[in-house]
Amino acid sequence: MFSTLPEPKPDAIIALIQAFADDPREDKVDLGVGVYKDDAGKTPVMRSVKEAERRLLARQDTKSYTKLTGNPDFVAGMQRLALGDVNERLTGAQAPGGTGALRVLFELTLRANPNARFWYSDPSWPNHQAMLTSMKVPHQSYPYFDTDTLGVKFDAMIETLDGLGPDDIVILHGCCHNPTGANLTQAQWERVTQSAQDNGWMPLVDFAYQGLGDGLEEDARGVRHMASKLSRLMIAMSCSKNFGLYRDRAGCAIVQCENAAEAALVAATLGVVNRLLYSFAPDHPASVVAEILGDPELRADWEAELGAMRDRINGLRTGLAEALRQETNSGRFDFIAEHRGMFSRLGATPAQVAAMREGGIYMVGDSRMNIAGLTSDKLRDFARAAAKAGI
Ligand code: LMR
Repeated sequence: MFSTLPEPKPDAIIALIQAFADDPREDKVDLGVGVYKDDAGKTPVMRSVKEAERRLLARQDTKSYTKLTGNPDFVAGMQRLALGDVNERLTGAQAPGGTGALRVLFELTLRANPNARFWYSDPSWPNHQAMLTSMKVPHQSYPYFDTDTLGVKFDAMIETLDGLGPDDIVILHGCCHNPTGANLTQAQWERVTQSAQDNGWMPLVDFAYQGLGDGLEEDARGVRHMASKLSRLMIAMSCSKNFGLYRDRAGCAIVQCENAAEAALVAATLGVVNRLLYSFAPDHPASVVAEILGDPELRADWEAELGAMRDRINGLRTGLAEALRQETNSGRFDFIAEHRGMFSRLGATPAQVAAMREGGIYMVGDSRMNIAGLTSDKLRDFARAAAKAGI
């Protein structure tokens, strides 16, 4: 039976992890998968995470089951992180990472409206489209990235969104757009919110990089504006990047409802959806996050670590734009300093990306590069290689 399985198409980002690992060159550079690295090229466990784990291990006296919607302190902590508050209209459930949170919210939506159609930005994180295709759910892209200006094509985006209606769910990147690094301004968030209000479509904010753009509060301004104006909103959060918990899988599906009764119904449905997909999301990483968010000292330390990560990424952005300016005698890469988050898309052709890989520099095929994968001593080498490849 299994011999008739169609050959699966590997996920391009995950395939890069293996290709990089298999490359024997010592001076290779990994700018593929979105994983933060320090200036020594390492992805250490965060200090605050280590301390929270130590405390949890010391006091944990059972591994018995928890709730189907997960650790309530974690869910409330994530709601506060995203929206600055908790209230009776908000509910949510723990999920295995950002992907798990998205999947749970897709399932919830389809239970509420089997005619739902999903929209994601062109381009978007490839798993948005891949998951929806696999679920056989109608989906389409809306215009987003302008390959000429390397910024957001806002007029075209809003024209599409203004044509949507109550069956449409629009996936928006809360901050640090993946893969382009080009983000909405606050005025644009307000206009997008107006479109949702006027046309009745529902936002699903994929919020996987909070704190890695301009700051925890700053990165949440768009989604908070939406939450203040709309009766309903969904948010998929990930703790992979900002808590560095990648493989442990901590994520949270958050739903803002019209009223408390609706929130209770959504909570019960989220529990059922979790039960059907995997019963219980992994407790350990979510409890680590709850411990950090609930303890002022640990939280301050986590915020300091996250701030240092963000400063390093933004410093690399400025340094890389400058190195490219010098190597190419042009300002055409200045956008890298303006973009925010782990990624920017260089605008290179597949042949140029392949030439970079020949030189030991790994980027995703669409020329998305993980800025956090660079180290300060490699900026000039990268700029030279890019100029040599004719990017
Ligand atoms: C990425 O975009 O590189 C990360 O979000 C990792 C992933 O799961 O694709």
